Order: sequence, then structure tokens, then C-alpha cells
Amino acid sequence: MVRINRNFLKLPGSYLFSEIDRRVKGYAQAHPQAQLIGLGIGDVTRPLPSAVTEAMHRAVEEMATPEGFHGYGPEQGYDFLRRAIARWDYQRRGIDITPEEIFLSDGAKSDSGNMGELFGVDNVVAVCDPVYPVYVDTNAMAGRAGEFDGHTGRWGALRYMPCVADNGFVPDIPWGEEAGLIYLCFPNNPTGAVASREQLGQWVEYANSSGAVILFDAAYEAFISQEDVPHSIFEVAGARTCAIEFRSFSKTAGFTGTRCAYTVIPKTLVRDGVALHALWSRRQSTKFNGVPYVVQRGAQAVYTPEGQRQVRETIAYYQRNAQVIRKGLEQAGLTVYGGVNAPYIWVKTPDGMGSWVFFDLLLERAGVVTTPGAGFGPSGEGYIRVTAFGSGADTCRAVERIAQAVGTL
Ligand code: MLT
Repeated sequence: MVRINRNFLKLPGSYLFSEIDRRVKGYAQAHPQAQLIGLGIGDVTRPLPSAVTEAMHRAVEEMATPEGFHGYGPEQGYDFLRRAIARWDYQRRGIDITPEEIFLSDGAKSDSGNMGELFGVDNVVAVCDPVYPVYVDTNAMAGRAGEFDGHTGRWGALRYMPCVADNGFVPDIPWGEEAGLIYLCFPNNPTGAVASREQLGQWVEYANSSGAVILFDAAYEAFISQEDVPHSIFEVAGARTCAIEFRSFSKTAGFTGTRCAYTVIPKTLVRDGVALHALWSRRQSTKFNGVPYVVQRGAQAVYTPEGQRQVRETIAYYQRNAQVIRKGLEQAGLTVYGGVNAPYIWVKTPDGMGSWVFFDLLLERAGVVTTPGAGFGPSGEGYIRVTAFGSGADTCRAVERIAQAVGTL
């Protein structure tokens, strides 16, 4: 009889956002009159920039002609897009990344999940706590988690690095034990915190001296509004020999339903005598057939002057929502973090209330869907996450309703 991968049995019953969806659907069914506002999952609501859709239309027309038809593309992405990314996202900022070091994909979620395949199961894995659940779940699936200890919230080889108000939600360098893989996400999902250049520099130094690899998720870099906050780990000297970076068009240009992202692996990153660039290239050419041509043409349009203008407009829209949430919830007497350089606002629950309790309360009394902090890890307990990706009108309504619900406590 076939044997299954029992590592899957160590996972929580469902993915966090599926669980929230299940609860919300159940509530909506029981209360059909409820006018729910979703500020839970970080999904964008603004349409694709017209520069993008026009480029996609042109690409579709091309595909309808014998000379413009494209079959399988290069697994790593078309040169036109890799060149645009290298120039606009890196070289323009003085960062040394070449087009050949960029791998296009269908999402930062898939890439950050799949990247673990390059590494042995016997590595210690360090993640921020609270953490984007994909990093934890995919390591558990790979058998890198050992047993889950419900009491400490720890998996065998997984180390949670507490990110709490006291350390500004940026983890401290570990503890003596050697971590092989270190997942960092800044601007952070879910707390909205950012790491300074100095803090990233310390991590880079640690990784280079210990031989670890930093998996740096920069999916939210477009939301950085303050000067001097690093947009990329590669702004830090030494990162080319210890870091891999994930970026996405999802939150930047509205591609959550269109799917296009990229991962940067410097050719200078070598571990165990092996260049990780070559390993990933081998992995992708075996398991991935590339992002659709039409989508890559759309993504390329993000880097035109018109595309850049439109993308900035959309980001500014979400940033205004973030301010509305921050201000409104503060006025309601809540303690809030994030939302300045990120589309997420991390809100302390009132009176030490549990995350899921506050989540339910807001669902039932305010008709607002949030994300319970505890779903992101033990240090998320006592918080909820609110996203700025809703419509402006919904965001204002949601903040008023939350303030009203909190006022009754
Ligand atoms: C979130 O809500 O955390 C995001 O949707 C995560 C993602 O991009 O997968």
C-alpha cells in the first residue's frame, strides 16, 4: 500500500486564510442580513493599471498571429522583463543585480514555499514570530519541522524568533544555536514593521559568518514611505553571498489574480560548495514552465513611465487607507503599529483579549473581517491584523464600525 507524506499530518487542519474564510462564510450564512467588510486577507481591490492591461491586450493580439505566437517560454522568464526588473528595481538604486540573477515565477508564496527544496531536511530554520504561515507550513511539509509542541507553539527544527513591541517587531540575532535558514520579511507581514539598514546588516554578518542563508521576502517594499528604510536586502553590503530575495507584482501592481513575481539569487551565493543559483535554475527548469507571455508583457509595462505613475497612484490610495485605519483606531483608544511603510496595521486587542475572541467580536458586532494575530504564531496572540487593501469607502466604514464596537466594551 502506498504511504503518504506524514509530515502533512503535522500541519494545522487548514491554512490560516482558509480557516478564516470558513468561519466568515459560516457566519454570513447564519446572518444573511450582515453587511460584512473584508479587511482580513491581504488581497488588493484596485484594478490593474491601464498601462498593464493595454500591454496585455497587445500581447494577446500578438499571440493570435503566426509570427507573434509564443509557446513555452524560458523557465526563468523572458529577457525583456528580467532586464527591466534589474534596471528599475536594482541598478537604478545602485544595487548590483544582473538580469541573469532574476527568476520570474507565479508568486512569492510559491517561491518562498518551494525554495526549501534546495536545502537538507536537517537544517534548523529560524522564522519571525508572528510569521507568514507559508514559511512554517512548507518547512513542516518538507519534514523539517519534527513534532509540533502545542504548548510552546514550536516545531522540532523550527525556531520562532519573537517579534514583539519591545524589540520593535524586529527579531534579535539568535541565541547561540546555528540556524541554517533564516526567513525575514520586511516590510513585515503581519506586523507592518520595517528593519533598519543596521539591523539587516547584522543579519547579513551573522549569515555570512555562520554559513546560513537568509530568505528575504520583500513583497511589500513598494509601500515604504520613509527615507532610509531599505527596499532590498541587497542594499546591504555582503548580502550577495548570503541572501535570496522574493518580490512580487501582486501588491505592487495588483497582480494577485494575474500572478507574476520574481526571486533574486546572486551567482555569488555558494553553500556546501554549490551555487544556489544553479540549483534553483535546475529546479525551475524541471518543475516550472514559466509565467505566461501575456502576463510578462503586462508586468513589463509596470516599468514604463506611465505604468510607474499609475502604480504609484494605486499605492498612494492604499497608503491613505492605512492612515485612516491607524488614525481611526488610535482615536478609538486602541494601540496600533505598522501601516506607515506597509499595507498592514497590527492592532493590540483591548483589555488583553485573545486574538480569536476579538476577531469574533469584530465580526459579530462590527461586521468587519480581520485576521487574528494568533494565526501567525504565538507572539501574535493579543493582536489582530487589519489590511489597507480595501476600498476607501469600505475602509472608512469599517473603522467607524470598529470604533463603535470598541466603545461598547
Ligand atoms: C496575506 O493576507 O497575508 C496575504 O494574502 C498573503 C499572501 O500574499 O499570500
